[in-house]
Amino acid sequence: MRIIQTIAELRQWSREARRAGNLIGLVPTMGALHAGHLSLVHAAKAQCGRVAVSIFVNPTQFGPTEDLAKYPRTWDADCAALEAEGVDVVFAPVPEEIYRPGSSTFVEVEGLGSRLDGQSRPGHFRGVATVVAKLLIAAEPDRAYFGQKDAAQVAVLRRMVADLGLPVELKICPIVREPDGLAMSSRNRYLSAEERQRALVLRQAIDAVAASIAGGERDSEVLKAVARANFADQPSVQIDYIAAVDWATLLPVAIVAPGTLFAVAAWVGETRLLDNFIAP
Ligand code: PAF
Repeated sequence: MRIIQTIAELRQWSREARRAGNLIGLVPTMGALHAGHLSLVHAAKAQCGRVAVSIFVNPTQFGPTEDLAKYPRTWDADCAALEAEGVDVVFAPVPEEIYRPGSSTFVEVEGLGSRLDGQSRPGHFRGVATVVAKLLIAAEPDRAYFGQKDAAQVAVLRRMVADLGLPVELKICPIVREPDGLAMSSRNRYLSAEERQRALVLRQAIDAVAASIAGGERDSEVLKAVARANFADQPSVQIDYIAAVDWATLLPVAIVAPGTLFAVAAWVGETRLLDNFIAP
């Protein structure tokens, strides 16, 4: 497995691999890899001849009061896991490689970028869209892999790729869960044993909504109330949002239809967690 730190070298690797007849897969990450990330790598390995994984804790997607400095960094374990998966390249640039001195160009997905997580974390999706655009331009992949857990991020990136005409296919992989149902996230490692237990309420709320939809309920206000009722037993978990939205626009819907995104975000102590469900 090759470790690459510069854009020039990454692009050269990608172009040579394509000339040799391979499809190129890119899995963008911020490291602290877990089974959710590895499911993206599996999908990429199954569908592409060559796979690169980027590990870059992107400073521009963190707000001034957020966890950039303490974001988990587990380089050795990440590389061991990626090597075991048969990844070809790890792209691990220093921040100055991505944000050159004097850098002043950003990608802003208007509207979408300030909904859901974008509303709670102003500027977050501007940072995400900017770094993903830079990674796609650097690696020139045929396919790029993202997790459904970050469903609003997916909507923002789909819009960006369509708007900029980037020649890449986005592949969205299902949420991977711990055995007890908690959606996998690098931030789960922040949770104390007690918070870890309380965090299960997100999954319970999502399950309750899924069961109501399966039972024929379609009214989004009723479904949001179903989700909220689960949180009533856990007053120490603060709801950030409970939303039923069109997955393409992130705008609220009154009636849940196939493809509607039902999403929750909540604070468990200092840790903000997400979960969601796409209506069948
Ligand atoms: O989902 C993430 O881990 C990050 O937002 C991403 C897509 C790697 C951009 O930094």
